[in-house]
Amino acid sequence: MTDTAGKGLEGIVVSQTALSFIDGLKGVLVYRGYNIHELAPNAGFLESVYLLWNGKLPVQAELDDFCAELAAKRQVAPETLRGLADVGPDAVPMAALRTGVSLEGIFDPDARDNSPDSNLRKAKRLVARIPTIIAAINRIRQGLDPIPPDPSLSHCADFVRMANGEEGTAEAVAALDRTLLLYLDHGFNASTFACRVIAATMSDMHSAVTGGVGALRGELHGGANMRAMQTLREIGSKDKVGPWLEKAFAEKRRIMGFGHRVYKTEDPRATHLRAMSEVLTQQAGQEDLFQLARELEEQVVRAKGILPNVDYYCATVYHALGIPIDLYTPLFAMGRVGGWTGHVMEQHADNRLIRPRAEYTGPMDLTWTPIDER
Ligand code: ACO
Repeated sequence: MTDTAGKGLEGIVVSQTALSFIDGLKGVLVYRGYNIHELAPNAGFLESVYLLWNGKLPVQAELDDFCAELAAKRQVAPETLRGLADVGPDAVPMAALRTGVSLEGIFDPDARDNSPDSNLRKAKRLVARIPTIIAAINRIRQGLDPIPPDPSLSHCADFVRMANGEEGTAEAVAALDRTLLLYLDHGFNASTFACRVIAATMSDMHSAVTGGVGALRGELHGGANMRAMQTLREIGSKDKVGPWLEKAFAEKRRIMGFGHRVYKTEDPRATHLRAMSEVLTQQAGQEDLFQLARELEEQVVRAKGILPNVDYYCATVYHALGIPIDLYTPLFAMGRVGGWTGHVMEQHADNRLIRPRAEYTGPMDLTWTPIDER
């Protein structure tokens, strides 16, 4: 006798984690005991990665060592850069990122070792190098050479320099860092669960993260941040929201950046991103974009009671920072890789194969017909 889970495993608790907690009814998100509202205004992204992996906040010397260690690991394998050049300028950035992560897995010195020490080294390399891969993708598609990392710069400052060829302002770098912190971990979301399923076969860290990137790409998950921005562009201006929405609902379109499987109240990450968006769009002279986003939010909530999720205002934050739209989802991966790798380590530390069953709905008892008689 087996129980059948509802479609999409809604509401099913499949395993345990000590990394993050979500209360979807109260709108609570906790990383290792710290509410996101405590962390977002105070912690940095790498500080939060340290927290997630170690279960405690670092003291200053530990954080300095951690940041320096990761900074020294930013350079990707030359074969990865060659592979990214080979996939060419027209590759979808998330597909190129998936390939970049996969190539890194081939050339990783710990590729054949799933021990805890090896996993930690691989996790550090992945968090350190995904920004280098994304920046290289952005350069290569413009016909430019990738820029090597500068370990004297912070994680996000170096990413901006490698991606754009020039350093960003301290405010822009800090805003990017905070979005990564907000994207870091989120229970058994689809991409993290994909990572854990792969890890649970005792496959390797890079295979799991490659799968995570693939799962994140979809528009029902991480791909929603770029689709949300495309929606706002399609609408164009605040006064066009009403007619656009009426048509969208009539066509049964999903409004990207709205709705969530777990949150039935405001996504606490959206609270921070809305506030950031208001400030950053104003600084960028994009007040109209913020007004448009607010109007769409108000009308969707009024019509359907569906609330914005993490991806909605993150899209406007990234737009205000001047980031190309198709890099929004890769940036989500740049944050979530801290969570993916943490979950792979947690899975390997206490593993059992994840292998649910399916309810068969096909025919039975068919008899064999030779090929020339079918
Ligand atoms: N726009 C319009 N209608 C929606 C939306 C939306 N964004 N989200 C949910 N609904 C409606 C559905 O049409 C459905 O209505 P129905 O019962 O009349 O058919 C109802 O709400 C329930 O939707 P489900 O798809 O069953 O809810 P589920 O929990 O499976 O979906 C999901 C969650 C995929 C996030 C959904 O809300 C959605 O498609 N949102 C848009 C994409 C998006 O923003 N994804 C990012 C999520 S956050 C993240 O992954 C980081």
